[in-house]
Amino acid sequence: MATKTSRKTLPKDLFFKKIDALGEALTFDDVRLKSGYSVVMPDDVELSSKFTKNVPLKTPIASAAMDTVTEHAMAIAMAKLGGIGVLHKNMDIESQGREVAKVKFSLNGLIEKPIFVLETDTVAEILRRRDEKGYTFHTFPVVNASGKLVGIISQNDFDFCSDHSLEARVIMTANAITAKAGTSLRDAYVIMHKAKKKSLPLVNAKGELAGLYAYNDVSRIVTKSQHRYNVDAKGQLRVAAAVGVNDFERAQILIANNVDALVIDTAHGDTEVVIKTLKEMKKRFNVDVAVGNVSEPDSALRLAKAGADGIKVGQGPGSICTTRIIAGIGSPQVSAVYKCARAADAYGVPVCADGGLKHSGDIPIAIGAGAWSVMMGGMLAGVKEAPGEVIFADGRQWKSYRGMGSIGAMETNKGSRERYGQIATGKKELIAEGVEGMKPYKGELEAVLFQYIGGLKRGMGYVGAANIAQLRDKADFLKITAAGRAESHPHDIMITKEPPNYSAE
Ligand code: XMP
Repeated sequence: MATKTSRKTLPKDLFFKKIDALGEALTFDDVRLKSGYSVVMPDDVELSSKFTKNVPLKTPIASAAMDTVTEHAMAIAMAKLGGIGVLHKNMDIESQGREVAKVKFSLNGLIEKPIFVLETDTVAEILRRRDEKGYTFHTFPVVNASGKLVGIISQNDFDFCSDHSLEARVIMTANAITAKAGTSLRDAYVIMHKAKKKSLPLVNAKGELAGLYAYNDVSRIVTKSQHRYNVDAKGQLRVAAAVGVNDFERAQILIANNVDALVIDTAHGDTEVVIKTLKEMKKRFNVDVAVGNVSEPDSALRLAKAGADGIKVGQGPGSICTTRIIAGIGSPQVSAVYKCARAADAYGVPVCADGGLKHSGDIPIAIGAGAWSVMMGGMLAGVKEAPGEVIFADGRQWKSYRGMGSIGAMETNKGSRERYGQIATGKKELIAEGVEGMKPYKGELEAVLFQYIGGLKRGMGYVGAANIAQLRDKADFLKITAAGRAESHPHDIMITKEPPNYSAE
């Protein structure tokens, strides 16, 4: 049961109290953080945070559960950079489960239950299964009918096999180098390095398959080049996935594939059916459940009391959203984040500020207002790892980006219709709450996120916050006018060379 604790008064409380007294609400472009005395160097700040109560982050950024933003490639790249990807649900349950598996299998310390093949399986059967299950790896231990390891098949064996009706035992490498069950990661690294082997099956005293190490992953862990990776206790990348209301079958499949957190993803999280779904999910499953979206403190409070492990805040701030215009509802995002985080803090539930970020400076503002993480759609949709091809138009490269409540997304996907409460609505009656468009192509996520994280670190340096908790505690705000906003951007100059972190567009 959620328990309440009292929260100390923070510098920003007075600022937001005054704004509230005027009946106003503010968003990113309305405010800036106050600069303060600092002994903090930006490059020394610590960015660890949390997405939900039990799912930590090394970088406080999540990629949005949108069909033009997060599938496995984005989720893998996000987790490798310390954040987390939330896989969208505009796909059938099995496909989403496979997406989770692709993230979880993309990097492994010890693979406790390796996917194996039987010595009597044909090459055709193995390749078909690999496609069906979406495995991204190419090496399989081969076992006999009594579970004993008899060999190993790797990419080379498949590449040089021209007859797919052959059985695994014919093309496998027999007498594979193995190690005893319980071999440590470091010993496995030494064995593989010495033998120049990319995989090391582990066997128990009976000769049965008991695990597998993969060299690329082991070497990354041992050589510490993965210190930024957001990994679970087994060394697998962390990933979250969206589910809908009463979506228990989907949740079960995602959990079976070891998803780290479920996100009940709806346009209006403060409803009876969402709260019932949350309670039922918490009762049935042992996994963190984040829920959203909301923008009022009472809503956040209800979700926290109902057992949410994370709360997503943002109704209508998104770059592709039309909810505020179509339905006339929703609080400007910075005020929404502040009020919801304040309510959720009392129950120890982390808030994720979802949507509306345009520049890296919006990240410290969102966290300063009270979020433990930010969720981005538009700021990530142009990267290589986002789903979809690069489009050439007007002499430039672009990628598609569309709202999950856009006509295009809702017409073709039940998941989108469900997010906007229009599951049984016919195509002609759909009421859109989003638009469809394109974002400039930005190349690989790593370089893009490097700039966003760089901006966050600089903001923390100016505030004097050595870590995310300090940024939440120390942040104080100034309301700016239109003149202040204009002054904040470059002015009185024709920019001839844009830096990588600022565009005049
Ligand atoms: P940004 O600003 O990062 O926002 O592009 C991404 C977030 O917007 C939400 N979202 C929508 N909201 N209509 C809406 O009102 C939509 O069609 C829509 N699609 C996504 C979502 O919370 C996402 O993370």
